[in-house]
Amino acid sequence: MQSAASMSRSTGAIPTLHQLDAAIHAILGESAPLMEVWSRTDCVDKTRGMEEWVKTQDGYRETPVESCAWYHGTWQYLRLLDMVATPSWYGFYNSALSEILRNKPRANVLISAAADYGMLATLHRAIEAAQGDPSIVIYDICRTPLRSCEWYADRYGLTVKTVRGDLLEDGVPEAPFDLIVTDEFLTVLKAQYKPMITQRWRELLRPGGSVVTTAMIGGATTPELRDGYARRARQLLSGRLDSFPHHNNGKAHLLVEHFDRFAGYHTRHMIDDEDQIRTLFSDFDELSYSATATPGECVTPTNSFQIVASLR
Ligand SMILES: C[S@@+](CC[C@H](N)C(=O)[O-])C[C@H]1O[C@@H](n2cnc3c(N)ncnc32)[C@H](O)[C@@H]1O
Repeated sequence: MQSAASMSRSTGAIPTLHQLDAAIHAILGESAPLMEVWSRTDCVDKTRGMEEWVKTQDGYRETPVESCAWYHGTWQYLRLLDMVATPSWYGFYNSALSEILRNKPRANVLISAAADYGMLATLHRAIEAAQGDPSIVIYDICRTPLRSCEWYADRYGLTVKTVRGDLLEDGVPEAPFDLIVTDEFLTVLKAQYKPMITQRWRELLRPGGSVVTTAMIGGATTPELRDGYARRARQLLSGRLDSFPHHNNGKAHLLVEHFDRFAGYHTRHMIDDEDQIRTLFSDFDELSYSATATPGECVTPTNSFQIVASLR
């Protein structure tokens, strides 16, 4: 094993709110209400996934939370306020993914969990930039984000395979992959699961393959941060009701209920420091990472590691 790590800290001005691209804004306006509807039936109770956050957050669980609908049904509404971490925060993905696809235009690609079609859209832009023709399989433990990816793929004529599965333990027969990509999966998973997923990614890669991902740096999601997040969502919503045509007719209070619930449950297991990244990816042959400022979620703004880990 040999690790070549590079670290560069961004010193530029921190964006308080990154500019939501007009095309993304338009498509989110269509798909956010759909995701809310899908989440009511497709988010089901599981032992792992986003409901695990809620099950261990006793202080915030007023009534039993039986599924991850609070997360997947609210995710795109919060994207319209730019309050959740998405691949569009990082220009890094386009350069990293398109470089890999230029070298391997017919790469076998795994999207290793995604809250919605955000990562697929980012991969789509890289495919166009590289003029690639990869095979794409998307795994998530919940059906709702997979449905969102299928919706996006149908709209843009992409061929994708979606699989509902637990990436920590289920078989992935589509492996080996040339590229595994995912945004912030490391900060979804608790500390004890993080080495399991990096080990898993290593096993699922083909020699010469790479993992491309990001992971926010920070501490615990405190009650104060949750309160601040809920307050910010309400403030931003009041100035942007025109982004929510389905609720801009006296139904904004329903969005506020979604946002308050999300703020109560949403829990990041952030990365401590550079050493943790080096340890997590120590079985890879090459590792490069850099910290960059992002708008952040509960902790805003914050820094995030942009990571490429590869096998020879
Ligand atoms: C990849 S992460 C972060 C979302 C990301 N920032 C984005 O833009 O898509 C969130 C996803 O992880 C999924 N997830 C959580 N635990 C999982 C597991 N053990 N196996 C597969 N998917 C999982 C959740 O269902 C959720 O859709």
